[in-house]
Amino acid sequence: MTFKITWLGHAAFDCEIDGSRVLIDPCLDENPAASCASSDVDADYILVSHGHGDHVGDTIGIANRTGATVITNNEIHLWLSKQGVKNTHGQHIGGGREYPFGYVKLTIAHHGSMLPDGSNGGSPAGFLITSKGGKKVYFACDTGLFLDMQLYGDEGLDAAFLPIGDNFTMGPADALRAVKLLRPSVVIPVHYNTWDVIKQDADAWAKQVEDETSTKAVVLKPGESYEV
Ligand code: NI
Ligand code: MN
Repeated sequence: MTFKITWLGHAAFDCEIDGSRVLIDPCLDENPAASCASSDVDADYILVSHGHGDHVGDTIGIANRTGATVITNNEIHLWLSKQGVKNTHGQHIGGGREYPFGYVKLTIAHHGSMLPDGSNGGSPAGFLITSKGGKKVYFACDTGLFLDMQLYGDEGLDAAFLPIGDNFTMGPADALRAVKLLRPSVVIPVHYNTWDVIKQDADAWAKQVEDETSTKAVVLKPGESYEV
C-alpha cells in the first residue's frame, strides 16, 4: 500500500506505487533544479503531461534504457513511437485506464503542448492517479486555474501537487483558490524557483494555505519525498 512521491525538482517526480516505479515529466539533464541525472533513475512507467521541453525532457532516453511504458496523450504517444520509443500508450482527457499500480486518468489543463521539434503535442493534461491501495493523488501539471477542479476534488484527494510559479501556470493566489476547489488532505507546491521568471516564496504560500483552508501544506526540496 505504498504511494511515495519524490520531487526531482521543477515538474519531475519519481513515484513508488505499490511496487511500480512511475516517473512523471522526467526533465532532469536540462533542469537547473534537478536533484539527479536522467542516468540515475529507473522506471516501469513514465507519464508525460504535455509536449513542452521542461516536461518531455529525458523521456526518450529513459524509456529506451529502461523499457518503461510511456503513458501520455494520443498525439505525444504517436510522436514518441515515431522517435523509436517501443512501449507507449495513448489516452486522452477524461479517459482513465488500469495499470498494475493503479488507475490513471488524464485531467484537463489550460496550457499549451507543442513538442520540442514543433510537432503538435495535442491537449495538455494533468494526472489523477488512484493506486491499487486506494490512495488518490492529483498532479495538476502545467495549468491555469479552472473551476472543474471542484469535480476532481469531489473524488476525495489524499494529496495534490500544484504549480505556483506564475507566468507559465497558476501563481500563488490562483493556486490558493485551487486548493479551495480541490480540498486535498495535503498540497505540495511545484513548478517554481527553477528560473527567476517563476521565483516564489513557497513557505509564505504554505502558511497562507494553512491559515485559510483545512489542507496541510508540505514544502519539499528537490530530492525530498512525501509518502501519502
Ligand atoms: Ni508547459
Ligand atoms: Mn512547464
